[in-house]
Amino acid sequence: MSYYVTTPIYYVNGEAHIGHAYTTFIADTMARYQRLKGEDVFFLTGTDEHGQKIEESAKACSKPTKEFADEISASFRSLWDDFGISYDKFIRTTDDEHIRGVQHAFVKMRDRGDIYKGNYEGHYCVSCETFFPQTQLVDGEFCPDCGRSTSVVKEESYFFKLSAYQQKLLDYYEANPDFILPRSRRNEVINFVKSGLFDLSITRTSFSWGVSTPDESRHVMYVWLDALLNYITALGYGGDEKEMRYWRADTHLVGKDILRFHAIYWPAFLMSLDLPLPRHIAAHGWWTRDGEKMSKSKGNVVLPREVADAYGLENLRYFMMREVPFGQDGDFSQRALIDRINGDLSNDLGNLLNRIIGMSAKYSDSLIDSRAVSQFHSSELEQMGQITQHIEKFLDEIQTHRYLEELWKLFAIGNRAIEVHAPWVKMKEGRDEEALATVALVANILARASILLHPFMPDITTTIADALGFKINTASYNAYLKDEKLLDTFTIKRVPPLFPRIDEPLLEQAPKISHPPVKEEISVEEEPDNLIGIDQFLTVALKIGTIIEAEEVAKSKKLLKLQVDLGESKPRQIVAGIKEYYSPSSLIDTQVCVVANLKPAKLMGMISEGMLLAAKDQNGLSLMRPEQQREAGSSVG
Ligand code: ME8
Repeated sequence: MSYYVTTPIYYVNGEAHIGHAYTTFIADTMARYQRLKGEDVFFLTGTDEHGQKIEESAKACSKPTKEFADEISASFRSLWDDFGISYDKFIRTTDDEHIRGVQHAFVKMRDRGDIYKGNYEGHYCVSCETFFPQTQLVDGEFCPDCGRSTSVVKEESYFFKLSAYQQKLLDYYEANPDFILPRSRRNEVINFVKSGLFDLSITRTSFSWGVSTPDESRHVMYVWLDALLNYITALGYGGDEKEMRYWRADTHLVGKDILRFHAIYWPAFLMSLDLPLPRHIAAHGWWTRDGEKMSKSKGNVVLPREVADAYGLENLRYFMMREVPFGQDGDFSQRALIDRINGDLSNDLGNLLNRIIGMSAKYSDSLIDSRAVSQFHSSELEQMGQITQHIEKFLDEIQTHRYLEELWKLFAIGNRAIEVHAPWVKMKEGRDEEALATVALVANILARASILLHPFMPDITTTIADALGFKINTASYNAYLKDEKLLDTFTIKRVPPLFPRIDEPLLEQAPKISHPPVKEEISVEEEPDNLIGIDQFLTVALKIGTIIEAEEVAKSKKLLKLQVDLGESKPRQIVAGIKEYYSPSSLIDTQVCVVANLKPAKLMGMISEGMLLAAKDQNGLSLMRPEQQREAGSSVG
């Protein structure tokens, strides 16, 4: 059978962070798991390179858009290559075959009567590349998804008749209860569709970085139509169709931020193209840092390469897929990572292997024979069988944390057997056969567990298998997992400790740059991490201000509205994201450091005429203040 798994294609507007790595690790694990079972797998990843967001990001870096996209796409690819991600194809939406496939799909949808020309008037969030009707905006202006300011779009556009698919989509969800995983997310999608679907604007004329429509080049395709089609153009759709036998996709892995596009738009496009729909859209939660979604503009990202270099790539993979229940958010913490390495990996798994290596060397010249296992350990074999027979259903539902939790029960059986049967006592009492049966039981547990763990930790489990003297492949999977056979014999080899204990965090704790949180609600262009000259620094006017009034902003968890005296004719209004850390009354008459020449921005409909400097780490946020009282308006520098 074939198995087709995909990651989202990532935008090329910034480096990959551990959120992207998480999705890719899960997809890689699923691909490896299916290959181990002997399936014919196609694993697709790649980059999403068109659209206004990328065009603007390239401009902000003063680079030609394609050159900018080339560089970042290559950085994703080389990260996945260095991480040993076993993708079969890396697609770029700037590939010619993809562009041809998208145009082909457009014509097909149009010929079927699903596309018509009209005028679009509404709001657009460039960061989310999403249209919103006025009624869905926060305070009439802000994106309901990311909180950034939206812009008004008024232009001629082609529309896709999404509304015509409302009932068909609802019928599909009804008939396929596992279409959306985890199932807890299903209702959210159903309710959205039930609330009414509008036809979707699928072309833009106000910028050009995209796939043009076949007959009218001034219309470029909406980036989500272009992007979603990658899942079929990668198989040759609209071209040689070489790999179309893999369609329909088994699992589209996505973050919950893009579930709606995959669970609503994508199936509607596919119905319009008369293609079968994917089996599962599996949506995971967000990795956060100190409770906030990681994103480059907040300066709070954790870079996967740094963590993998410090802690080990496969330890990171294990941690991410074990720590957080699939579908829920998780906060990245080095402490939690260290606890998993020291506890699950070093204590439970590493020690068990070391004990087997040690005991087999001491008692039986590193040779282990499984003959007497069933005679002395039938109950442990039965417990093992129960686990291995049902464990796979967890992975089939992408419940990686539950799968690993079950897997670790095998190590618990092994560790308990050693404690209870104390082979060293039995050896002393001359009950060698019994003692060696326990060692053989545990060697078999390690063998089965390392096969089951292989998709998550491919290299480490290969080393374990090597230490035990067998190979992990489809044949061993079938023999020892499916048919529950024991290995007849083991020739044990010593290996260096696989999971050295870690005592202290290995990486600097706080993010290197800490933006005051108010920035999160403003549309911020991402800057390259370049050094700046003094001239550039001097363009920023930093001033001491005295807070003369402070009040809470209703309906906002984060914002306070301040009146700040900067020694000017009237105080400035500054809206700052510090409500979680300061009460309004504690701020009156205190001094702060203000970026005084920032363009005024609107936050929740209120003008903000400056920004406060603050430092933030895992313990909270602290405003930057002069050591001693200074005159309001004094410059800082
Ligand atoms: O949305 N936690 O691309 P993108 C967990 N190009 N996962 C995260 C994450 C976080 N903090 N941040 C990002 C796009 N991700 C579109 C996709 S597909 C046809 C087009 C992961 O670069 C997660 O998988 O914004 C999320 O869905 C994806 O990166 C978004 O990547």
